[in-house]
Amino acid sequence: MANAAESSPNPLPVLPLPDDLTALAKPFMVGPVRVERPFVLAPMSGVTDSAFRRTVQRASRNTVGLLVTEFISIEGLTRSNLKSAMRLAFDPLIERPLSVQIFGAEIVRMADAARIVADHGAQIVDINCGCPAPKVVRRGGGAELLRQGDHLARLVEATVAAVSIPVTVKIRSGWSADCVNAVEIAQKCVGAGAQMITVHGRTRMQLYTGEADWAIVDAVARAVPVPVVGSGDVTTPGEALYRLATTQAAGVMIGRAAIMNPWIFGQLADLVAGRPERPITGHDRLTLLRAFRDMQAERVPEFAIPGRMKQLLARMTKGFAHGTLLRERAMRAQTTAEMFHWIEGFFEAVDAGTVTAWADAARPEAVER
Ligand SMILES: Cc1cc2nc3c(=O)[nH]c(=O)nc-3n(C[C@H](O)[C@H](O)[C@H](O)COP(=O)(O)O)c2cc1C
Repeated sequence: MANAAESSPNPLPVLPLPDDLTALAKPFMVGPVRVERPFVLAPMSGVTDSAFRRTVQRASRNTVGLLVTEFISIEGLTRSNLKSAMRLAFDPLIERPLSVQIFGAEIVRMADAARIVADHGAQIVDINCGCPAPKVVRRGGGAELLRQGDHLARLVEATVAAVSIPVTVKIRSGWSADCVNAVEIAQKCVGAGAQMITVHGRTRMQLYTGEADWAIVDAVARAVPVPVVGSGDVTTPGEALYRLATTQAAGVMIGRAAIMNPWIFGQLADLVAGRPERPITGHDRLTLLRAFRDMQAERVPEFAIPGRMKQLLARMTKGFAHGTLLRERAMRAQTTAEMFHWIEGFFEAVDAGTVTAWADAARPEAVER
């Protein structure tokens, strides 16, 4: 057994892995769509826009097996809402294969929205059955569909009939601890024609608390004849492989860890191929953040860019000595230039080994003096 200790700001237990990692990281098919590497970038609302997906794909040297958009409202799509339409934008050369995730509850509208998604060139359309947000659930969408199994089956059936691309479904383990019904829901979806199921191993009531339950991922994977992707709390390449080794899941989805570490899919490819780990330098981080800024600048006005940088910056600097100070300084910046003044100083100091001196000069008392 090899082991998979990773250098991570939050050290994880050492996990046992089999010696032959290539046998573990096998491609899988979603209908006719081949997912070359079984590692999927999670849909994350407010995060996984085209700029972010391209950033991860580039940082990871085109090794992301499947990319998923943030969820898009079927109401918005079918009523030509500008924001929803903009969320469909993608670069077909880099973001491939791409799954577009949609959410809502109405059967006819879901089928119409899926048609729009397919016409737009996506390889897969995914139906969201996991969003816990009250404003989504109240209107019958997201995780509420876990409580409406028969309606969900009709929804999937109509969507499958409307498009020629594969339809997939992303679910949670259930609504609450006393209603863990992912197996039954997955069977209904597959019976209605779904070609892949993703399971986030938390109930709706858990939101993002507690630990993801991978036993339920395994149970679903054993119960349905289509690929099942597991989601929840994977933070390192070793952990992703461990989930593949210890469950019947065909793939592993990575969400928050890809914001913290957009290189993670490339690191997974290296680990599988037996290549040595490449250290990520301050310069690498700076280059990535600059490229992300420039991609945002193509789509949003200057004043909106600092806001779009925040998620990525906040998670990417977690665990660094004086990262909190950087976040405080950069997040308060009024302009992109000011934000980058702090980011550049910090990451240059990281590479030079002078972060303590940077922090001494960057503290508000020092700056205001
Ligand atoms: C900020 C944020 C936004 C999310 N938005 C979506 C979404 O739009 N659709 C969806 O199916 N899941 C969404 N999720 C859930 C993730 O896809 C994933 O299942 C969950 O975060 C657990 O995986 P992780 O621990 O790797 O992050 C979101 C999660 C986060 C943190």
